[in-house]
Amino acid sequence: MRIDIISVLPEMLEGFVETSILARAQRKGLCEIHLHNLRDYTTDRHRRVDDYPYGGFAGMVMQCQPIDACISALKAERDYDEVIFTTPDGQQFDQPMANELSLKENLIILCGHYKGVDYRVREHLITREISVGDYVLTGGEIAAAAIADATVRLVPGVLSDEQSALSDSFQDNLLAAPVYTRPADYKGWRVPEVLLSGHEAKIKEWELAQSLERTRRLRPDLLK
Ligand code: ADE
Repeated sequence: MRIDIISVLPEMLEGFVETSILARAQRKGLCEIHLHNLRDYTTDRHRRVDDYPYGGFAGMVMQCQPIDACISALKAERDYDEVIFTTPDGQQFDQPMANELSLKENLIILCGHYKGVDYRVREHLITREISVGDYVLTGGEIAAAAIADATVRLVPGVLSDEQSALSDSFQDNLLAAPVYTRPADYKGWRVPEVLLSGHEAKIKEWELAQSLERTRRLRPDLLK
């Protein structure tokens, strides 16, 4: 899969793309992430990408021209499955959406900034608007990083232990059971006996009971 991220602050994402799970996936040849600086596409001689909003509202608005130029240049090279815009008024990102996106071939993610983007971009160029939660970030870069990370780790082969994606919290609408490692007794804090028993069926039963109990207690909304 290929993800093209368009941003006014690509340097914010450079370290992330080069060190995280995204770096590993790229090294394995399972995905490509490309960062694009929106300012490289503006026709403005001062490299401006924003302007004042019509109507006298507060804040600045990202202009159509550089966004259209960047997306058009990318689309001239290949077909894209989705052109995503990160925005707090988008559809809430969740695990089913990550699963769905992980099956796509080519994605564009446009990071929002300032007060928003000229609405005509959303009407004519964007196919999907995604929020990572009910709070407002300064820019869409952190949202784009979250979407790319959660999506790419689901591409087959990216995680070394395929099982570990399947047992993630949320994958079956349940929170994951607690996990433990050695030693079995640390300062008197003991690992649950059942996990030391080697009894596979009992361990599975314990795991499910723990998942259900934690979900009921911490995220009852997931059980509805
Ligand atoms: N940009 C600013 N806040 C955001 C959010 N919560 N989700 C996605 N993009 C954003």
